[in-house]
Amino acid sequence: MSDILERLRRLRAGDAPTHGGHVLAYVYDSGMPELDELADAAAQLARPLNGLDPTVFPSVATMERDVLGFVRRALHGGRDVVGSVTSGGTESCLLAVKTARDLWRAERGGRTEGRPRLVAPATAHAAFQKAARMLDLDWDPVPCDADGTVDPQDVIERLADDVALVVVSAPAYPSGALDPIGPVAAAARSWGIRCHVDACFGGLVLPWWPRLPDWDFRVPGVTSVSADLHKFGYAPKGVSVLLHRGRRQHRAQFFATTRWPGYPVVNPTLLGSKSASPLAAAWAIVQHLGREGFADLTASIARTATGIRAEVDGIVGLAVMGDPVGPAIALVADPDAPPRAQVDPHRLADELMRHGWRIQHQPGFVQSDGTKLPRSAHLTLTPVLERGLPEFRAALALAAEKVRGRPPADPALLAGAMRALGYGPGGRVPSPATAWRLLRLAGAGSVRQDQPMATLMALIEALPAPVAEALLSELLARMSEPR
Ligand SMILES: Cc1ncc(COP(=O)(O)O)c(C=O)c1O
Repeated sequence: MSDILERLRRLRAGDAPTHGGHVLAYVYDSGMPELDELADAAAQLARPLNGLDPTVFPSVATMERDVLGFVRRALHGGRDVVGSVTSGGTESCLLAVKTARDLWRAERGGRTEGRPRLVAPATAHAAFQKAARMLDLDWDPVPCDADGTVDPQDVIERLADDVALVVVSAPAYPSGALDPIGPVAAAARSWGIRCHVDACFGGLVLPWWPRLPDWDFRVPGVTSVSADLHKFGYAPKGVSVLLHRGRRQHRAQFFATTRWPGYPVVNPTLLGSKSASPLAAAWAIVQHLGREGFADLTASIARTATGIRAEVDGIVGLAVMGDPVGPAIALVADPDAPPRAQVDPHRLADELMRHGWRIQHQPGFVQSDGTKLPRSAHLTLTPVLERGLPEFRAALALAAEKVRGRPPADPALLAGAMRALGYGPGGRVPSPATAWRLLRLAGAGSVRQDQPMATLMALIEALPAPVAEALLSELLARMSEPR
């Protein structure tokens, strides 16, 4: 048996480090090893449970009640705010949309013809596009400015009777911008449209962040909020919270049926049988940290954000996108610097990787009105980073020095070849076999976790979205295909 675990250890050695703060995306290290130990022990205790049925395993209901109560209080929800623990941010977002869509239909006499719209700033998390596609809504993204902000009036102008839900973020992952929640929620309310605040990223940080406008259940038109415990709740992956204003809205999230020969099925969330381990881990962490613990960890993140922004201010050719709030910062090439002094954020990210630091490439994006959001590099700031801050600041400055003036990766040759093969705008989408051949041609047939990404990202920017999406899907599918 020990050889099996040894094999897994060897596999894990090839992963990016999950602790220590050198990976500024995907992982959320509190810097408190005792939290991980507590979470592991709680997860282990709950491991045999099935979260499907709290009538058989009432501990599941108790833990849910405690976690929901804690988050509700943090988000200033009253007793009318109720909700569910889900498996993650995407599930919370999907359920917020499903609930709004079902109520939109029900409030129109069960109308099924005509597709409702889902309106959100273009920086809303991709999970909402996924929800729109899966749940048959029209995705209506509102273009943002290059600094990641959106004009509330531009969102408000899209509101009409066919809108089932408007989504705003606290903050948006790609930019760190706090959307104009007050004015949007007020307008939504006057239309009778539901308004979801996606605080999957910031929901357990912003409650303790200094000097913010109201963004949570204090805002009257806000009808639901999502907040992930597997991000800044420091729990292992698989746990998030979706809160609704009002029991009626929450119950619209449920699926229940007695119309089959088996056990009566009542699922508040998408899954049936489900692990209670992530919930137990989150529950234990919340008990241990309490509000004070979260406030301390948030203060550490805020100091780190200040330090990084000060460093970037001093780096010629590099800039922070907009005025981010909370634990996300996006780095962009300084638009006011001449090209020979600019720091391309994707070159920077590749260079930083050589110094042992990972920040996340975000391709430039052409919005529905043709305006562009610049390519950027995302940084998720976790508490553990404060300890390594001097080292990170030095690496950032050094890496910027190294790549300053280097033009962005140019995939023109490859993108041209793709166009010639018929995969240009309005062209076809490659089959799995062709996509795989093209990926190998582009040198992206085998990915290592520490591989430079600037060229692949530039290719994504240059290709029509359906082609890029087919290539990336192929890449991921091939990685786990049995050999
Ligand atoms: C704002 C926001 N919403 C939703 C999600 C989706 O969360 P998950 O990856 O847990 O499904 C994320 C993930 O980063 C996010 O930042």
